[in-house]
Order: sequence, then C-alpha cells, then structure tokens
Amino acid sequence: MRLFRALRAAAPNLSEIQGDLFSRGFPKFYETYYFFSIQRPGDFSKALPKLVDGKHISSLAAVLGQWKDLDKPLNESTKEKTVTQLSNALIGFSVFGLKEIERGIQSLGKGPALVGLGETESGKYSLEKSDPAFYTGMKKDGPKSLFDPPVTRWDPLFQANIHGVLKVAGSDKDQVESRLKQLKEALGYDSGVIVDIPARSPPTDALSRVDGAAEKRSERLAWGREHFGFRDGISQPLMRDIDSDDACKTNNFMVTPQDAIIVPQDGKAWGHTSDTPPGDPSRRPPWMKDGSFLVFRKLEQHVKRFNTLLEKHKSVGCKDPEQLAAKLMGRWKDGTPIADGEPRNPVEPANSAPVNLLASNNFPAPSTKKDSRTVCSPGAHILKTNPRTPAWSSSRILRHGIPYGTPFIDKDEPRGLLFACYQSSIDMGFRKLQQWANSRTFGEGASSLAPGIDPIIGQSKETAEGGQVKKEDAMRVWKDDKGADFWGKRTEEEGLGPHEPVVTMKGGEYFFVPSLAALRGV
Ligand code: HEM
Repeated sequence: MRLFRALRAAAPNLSEIQGDLFSRGFPKFYETYYFFSIQRPGDFSKALPKLVDGKHISSLAAVLGQWKDLDKPLNESTKEKTVTQLSNALIGFSVFGLKEIERGIQSLGKGPALVGLGETESGKYSLEKSDPAFYTGMKKDGPKSLFDPPVTRWDPLFQANIHGVLKVAGSDKDQVESRLKQLKEALGYDSGVIVDIPARSPPTDALSRVDGAAEKRSERLAWGREHFGFRDGISQPLMRDIDSDDACKTNNFMVTPQDAIIVPQDGKAWGHTSDTPPGDPSRRPPWMKDGSFLVFRKLEQHVKRFNTLLEKHKSVGCKDPEQLAAKLMGRWKDGTPIADGEPRNPVEPANSAPVNLLASNNFPAPSTKKDSRTVCSPGAHILKTNPRTPAWSSSRILRHGIPYGTPFIDKDEPRGLLFACYQSSIDMGFRKLQQWANSRTFGEGASSLAPGIDPIIGQSKETAEGGQVKKEDAMRVWKDDKGADFWGKRTEEEGLGPHEPVVTMKGGEYFFVPSLAALRGV
C-alpha cells in the first residue's frame, strides 16, 4: 500500500506534460523544427505563459484524446476530415536559452527563478552536476565524446547559438505553417523578441528551420519508411500509466514514465530509473518536474553509398543485397525482424499492410545461450541501440524522427533523417546508445564479441574527419548466425570495411522540454 502510494505520488501529470512525450507522439504527416534566438529576454519571459492556452503548445492529455478519436473506426471520409484538422506544437530550450529566460525573469525584478542554472551554483540544485551533457551543449559534447564531426562541418544553422526550438507537427504543410505563424506571433517575432538563426533582414525563416514529411509522397516512403528503404517507427518503448494497460502487458520493452519524463522517485532521485547515471539526478531543480530532454540531430543519409556497400559485399554470408541490408539493420525492409526469418513482404509493396508492430518488436527476451540474438547479427543497428538484455535495458529512448529531402531515385541530393528522441537523462539515453554504436564491441563489458561499429550510425575518429570507416571498425557479418552460441565462435566472414560512412551528422542540439506548469510559472 505504501509502495502504491509512492508510485502514485511519482506519477506524471498528463495535463502538464507536453504532448509529443509518449510512444505515439504527435499524429503527423508533416513537421517543421523552427530554431530561434531570444533577443529580448524580459519580453520573452513575459510571453511564455501565453503559450499555455490550449491553442499554442499541446498537452499530453489533449494528444491522447486526439489518438482516441483517430483510433475510432470511422469511415474513410470522416477519418480524412479528422486528420486534416490536426496540428500540435512543442517548445524546448537549450541550456543557453534557459539562461536567457533566467536573465529575463531577473530583469523583470522577479528574482532568481530557474535555480540550479548558475555557473557557480553551490546549493542543493545544479544542472551542471545533474545533467552534464545538457549543460555542455551538443557543440562541445558531440565532437569531444561521440566522434561527431567538428562544428565547422555542421550546417550553418547548427553552428549558431540556438536558444530554442518549436516543433510543429500536423496533417499537412498548411496546418503546420499556420500553427507556427501563431506561435511566432505569440512569442513576439514581429517585434524582434525572438529572431531567426541566422537573423536576416528582411526576416525570412527559411534558413532557421528544417522540414520533414512522412506523408505518402512516393512508393518508397509509404508506411513511414526512412530513406534507405526500411520501415521505421516500430520498436518504441511503451509507458506505464500513459500507454494502454493491455499494450503494456504484452510489451517486453516497456519503460516506466521516469525513463522519458522527469518525475521525482521516492522523494530522492529525479528522473531516470537507473540509479547510476553519470550525473546526480537528485540535484535536479523542482522546475524540471514533468519535463524531458529532447535530442535533435540532422543526419544526412547517403543512399547511393549504402546501396553500393550492399552490392559490393552481397556475398558476405548472404544470398543477395537485401539479406545483407537486413543483417545490417536487424530487420528486413518491411520491418520483419531478421530473427523471425524471411520477410513477410520481401518486395515491400507500398500498399502492403504494415506488419504486426507488437509481435515484430518482441523478440523473446534473451535468457538462454540460444536466444534471439543468435539469429540477429550482434552488430545490427537495432541490437546496438537496444541490446535486449536486462542489464542494459534502462537506456531506452522515445524516438520521434521524420525523414527530410526527396526520396532517392538516382540523384544524390541531400536527404536524411531529422532524428529526435526524448529521455529523462541524455547521458543514460541518447549518449549511451551513440556510444554503443561507436564501439567495436557489443554493449558494455562484452569485449569478447566485437562485431564492429553500428553500420548505420557508428562514428569514429576517421569519420569525424570526413574519412572512411576503417577495416577494423566496420561491421562483421557472420555466415550463419542460426543456432550459434551468441558469445562463442561463429563462422565469420570478412568485415565490410573500409567503406564510406552511410550517415553524416550535420548538426543538432540538446534541449529541455519544460512542463506546461513551468511555462506558466515563468
Ligand atoms: C530502430 C533507422 C539513427 C536508435 C531503427 C529502425 C530503423 C532505423 C529502420 C528499425 C525500425 C524500428 O524499430 O522502429 C535509422 C536511421 C538512422 C537512425 C536510418 C540515421 C539516419 C538512430 C540514432 C539512434 C537510433 C542516432 C540513437 C542513438 C534506434 C533505436 C531503435 C532504432 C533505439 C529501436 C531498436 C529496437 O528497440 O529494436 N532505426 N536510425 N537510431 N534506432 Fe535508428
């Protein structure tokens, strides 16, 4: 009973959490990320509470309601109508933006509001101590700790000092544009309270934003496919108290809300369920309650290079390039886990029904030596980023990315993924996964097995400098994974390297997504 009470007390407040923060996120076909700089902190701080009026920033309770409506069996025409009426928005701030807000509040004579932000904070609360990566920002942290390319190679937008982001999603471009316009107006864009990055005169936000689309623009992007052709958005942690109880019961990879949302636990630690994050969550200030961290990265995908890699190595333990692609990802392009054998829709017809999401997500939990991973290459992207072992299961993220750029036909134009994920600790979430991806070994402490770096997102010293993935780093493909002892010897074929990296990071930032209560209180 006491435990029950403690859990209830820690439960997140759905009407105070921003609406993208659960497994399904905003319903969307089109999305824009608008990045801005705060020029007049006092006026900005005054404007923020106006966003919490139900029309500007969406609450999780409202978005859950929208999904309930969308899930109702409607006839096609009614459904269309409901979908076209939708748009939602979220706001987040980099540590530099939070510092501007703090300055703004102080300039209004309201005293220190965002405790814990100061450089020399020595009291109980300290963001520098609780969330070191966020406090540092991606520009310093990425190149130093994650082999991101130097900032001079990033897109100019991300080289600038970004204070905040508006993430606006909706059913089409018009819905998104008009919602973004409303938000910018409310924040004083027209009178220069916020400006584009880099600021332009006359103002044009074209350079300050990146747009993505998941609508059915072509056969290839049907059913939410990313540019290499794989179905995306399948494996997503469900959240107790937020996702439906039935779904949670059948999902092996459920997280508690605390993995994605910052809520106090037993009155001591705030946030992540792991008790050993690099930072000290107990030093998180109370204004972070019901908030989350958003990691945004623009990741360019080199589709031609990916296809060339498959063609060149198609005979490495595989019968054709499609099978090699599946070994690199851990899923066939239609989403079927390679652990399940052959794909259900090998030719990925655009109009084929989506695979059963839950079944495709739930490989048996690894318990015996002959577990699911024995039929999925240990280096595959979906095992690198979710090793499916209890010891490492606390590093789960909510992914809500969207593709940008035109679908690949033959022209090698810039295209890729606007990667976005939420977590209650950047160190335990995104950073940990990217570090696993960059490591030649599998997970932590399993150095006897070295499948190479993640073939999709793995980065190294060489790739950071614009070079190739070295032979020693490139993923190894095993001839026959079936039935082999996971930790033991297998029939290994040669690795895939050296090769050009198939994904290049073009910039990004770490953001904090406050609760609506925090926005109101500013
Ligand atoms: C799963 C593609 C970047 C983490 C997947 C899936 C695809 C994919 C196709 C399988 C579908 C699914 O389970 O939803 C890509 C591409 C990327 C990219 C093309 C870059 C352009 C990243 C990054 C991270 C990441 C940067 C984190 C550091 C994950 C995770 C899963 C996943 C956690 C789910 C694994 C599981 O539970 O099975 N990705 N991804 N991805 N990806 Fe990525």
